[in-house]
Parts: sequence; C-alpha cells; structure tokens
Amino acid sequence: MKYRGLPRVLQVLLWLAFAAVVGVIFYGSLPSAVAAIFHLVDVEPEKIPWMTSRITAFLSYGALAASSIYGLAMTTKTLDVIARRVVTDTLHENLSFWGLLLGITHAVLLMFDNYIQFTWESILIPFAASYRPDAVAYGIFALYLTALLVLTSKARRWIGLRLWRAIHLLAFVAFGLLTAHGLAAGTDSGTVWARALYIGSVTLVVFFFAVRILQKITGANRR
Ligand code: HEM
Repeated sequence: MKYRGLPRVLQVLLWLAFAAVVGVIFYGSLPSAVAAIFHLVDVEPEKIPWMTSRITAFLSYGALAASSIYGLAMTTKTLDVIARRVVTDTLHENLSFWGLLLGITHAVLLMFDNYIQFTWESILIPFAASYRPDAVAYGIFALYLTALLVLTSKARRWIGLRLWRAIHLLAFVAFGLLTAHGLAAGTDSGTVWARALYIGSVTLVVFFFAVRILQKITGANRR
C-alpha cells in the first residue's frame, strides 16, 4: 500500500507544536537578537565585510550540516515517518544549494576585508592564502566538493544513479573538511555556541551514519 503520511489531525497537531516551540524560542531570544543587530550596526564600517563573512559562514555551515544530517535521515528512512519523500528530497537539495551560495558569499566577502587581505587567487587556489593556509584550504576543497555534489545531483538523470551515488559519498568528506575548516580558521571556534554547533552536527552525522551501517549489516531498510 502506498504511504500516505500521518493522519491529517496528527499533522495539524505537529505543526501547532512546532509553531509553539518556534514561538517560545523567538520570545526568549528576540530581545538579545535585536540588541545584537543594533550592536552590529554600531560596528566600525571597515569591519562589516569581516562580520558579514562570518555570519554567512555560519549560515552556510548550518545549511550544509543540516543537509548532510537530513540526507542521512532520508537514507535511513527515519524521515519517511513524518514527511513525504518528494518534500524531503526537495528540502535536502535546497539546503545544499543555499549552503553553497552562502559559502561562496562568505569567501567573496573576505576580499573586502582590509585586515586579512584576500585576493581571487587566495580564495580559489588551496594553500595560496597567507592567512592560516591549511585551514583555509580545507574550506576551498569543501566548497569545490559541495559544488560537485550540487551539480551532479541536478544532473542525476544524465550521469546515472550508480555514478551519482559514488560521487555522493564525497558528502562525508565535504562535511569533515567543513567542520575542520570552521574550527581551525574561525574566530568564534572558542565560543560555547560555535562549539555546540560543531559538536551537535558531528554527533548527529555520526549517529545516523552508524544507524545506516547497522541497517546494511542487518539487512534492514532494503529497497
Ligand atoms: C561552503 C564553504 C564554506 C563554509 C561552510 C565555511 C564556513 C566557515 C565557518 C563556519 C567559519 C568560522 C567563522 C567564525 O568562527 O567566525 C569560517 C571561517 C573562515 N573561512 Fe570559511 N567556509 C567555507 C569556505 C571558505 C572558503 C572557500 C574560504 C576561502 C577564502 C574560506 C575562508 C575562511 C576564513 C579566512 C575564515 C576565518 C574568518 C574569521 O573568523 O576570522 N572559507 N568558514
């Protein structure tokens, strides 16, 4: 029988619960968020490219980490319990696409910062940067891999499922490189919230990866 999702009443209840949780988070964090934005506006103009580069860096990392976790949750069929495959597929693709765009924005914005002084070469060629060359190279490799993953997913019909799947395994390498890059290159790596983001993302990826391996060994989740 075709899977038709949860009963309508349950779906409405779940959305209401979700809205309540988002509402509580907004209510709790809005005053400090507004204060932070005003603080940002107060910042010296020459620091704005660097600040916005860091903001887009975390947005990109968040989107790409979420996409990796989401992808694994899809292959382990965990998400099939709460949403239809078409929806989850689309969200997974969108997260990667926006993560890639934000990652490009993050790198390009660095060129407008007077302190780090990045050029086209140093954002495109691994190890060419004078600022933390190894850590920056991880970010450049990860960006290229993410571009490859996004493009091959768009071209899946032409390249075939087997090749697409083989290339898609590189998503694990990309995620590892991104995390190493953020931790090693970032100004905020020492803060509690940044550590929580990195540790939380890695934990979820490792957890779903372990579930997938177990499913492979036990033969569960076979198509
Ligand atoms: C999708 C790709 C990328 C993602 C998700 C990403 C993510 C991040 C994150 C999360 C940080 C930490 C920011 C902080 O702690 O304040 C960071 C820092 C940094 N990234 Fe990337 N990055 C990517 C690509 C690149 C590329 C291609 C470059 C090439 C120039 C680059 C250069 C840097 C530099 C120089 C820093 C240190 C900035 C600072 O905090 O002072 N990143 N990146």
